[in-house]
Amino acid sequence: MYVCVCKGITESDVRRLGRAGVTCPKTLASTLGIDDEENCCGRCLTDIGDFVALATEGQVRHHSSVKT
Ligand code: FES
Repeated sequence: MYVCVCKGITESDVRRLGRAGVTCPKTLASTLGIDDEENCCGRCLTDIGDFVALATEGQVRHHSSVKT
C-alpha cells in the first residue's frame, strides 16, 4: 500500500528501511525524500510519526525472525 503518493513510497519501503536500522524521523524523511519541499505536498512530513511506526515495526519483525 502506498503511504506517499508524491514519492511513490510503499509501506514495504518504510519497513525495509526500519530493518536496515533507519527509524530516526529526520533520517527517514531525508532518505525517503519527503522533506523535499519543492516536489512534495508536505503531508508526509507532518505525519512522520506514522513512518517511524512502520519502520519500527519492520525492525521488530527483523529481530524476531533471527534464529539463535
Ligand atoms: S503524499 Fe507524501 S509528501 Fe505528498
